Amino acid sequence: MQRKVILIFFLLVTMLSSFTCKKPVSKDVLKQTETLQNIDGVIGKSEYSMTVETEKMMLYLSRDSKELTFGLGSQTMGWIAIGFGSMSMDKSHIIIGYSAGDTMAIKEHNGMGHRHQSAENPILINAIIKENDGTTIFEGSVRAEEVIQPGQSSISIIIACGAGDDFASRHIFRKSLAVMLAE
Ligand code: HEM
Repeated sequence: MQRKVILIFFLLVTMLSSFTCKKPVSKDVLKQTETLQNIDGVIGKSEYSMTVETEKMMLYLSRDSKELTFGLGSQTMGWIAIGFGSMSMDKSHIIIGYSAGDTMAIKEHNGMGHRHQSAENPILINAIIKENDGTTIFEGSVRAEEVIQPGQSSISIIIACGAGDDFASRHIFRKSLAVMLAE
């Protein structure tokens, strides 16, 4: 009887940990390509080599030997952001911005706990944010060597969006992703 109880307890713990510890890992593998995207705020069908669909945001990625390009799409009109190097805000290199009328503002921040502040090591090469019909598109490219270390098999990415045209309001959606890399 006691054995049975222990066995049931063990099974329950195993089931629970498989639910809670599961990392959201990308289905596809990010391969190197030769031509990268136009950073123009328009994301064409099959433009990027990888597409990750989440509940409220789209993430597009491509890479060559020098650059990693990203595209983000959200059904919101406030800030939009991507972060590299961590599955949480803490220690993530965050690129956050918004478009408001004729102005576009983009900043690079370092995540510290659940806050973020100006990064001293910018990695962004090029970026654009465009709003259209209730949606926001954020496209950019970063130096690959800053986000992919030699021999790494996956990269940690966080994405988020908020309702305000600012850098401080809380997100209405956020997600952590482990993106698998091809050798
Ligand atoms: C703009 C100011 C921000 C505030 C005030 C803020 C605040 C918070 C707070 C309080 C949490 C814990 C509660 C929760 O799970 O929702 C959290 C979690 C999270 N946030 Fe933020 N956040 C901000 C910006 C960002 C940005 C720019 C990103 C992505 C680039 C992001 C991604 C995440 C993720 C992935 C989590 C869950 C993992 C973790 O706990 O770090 N946040 N945020």
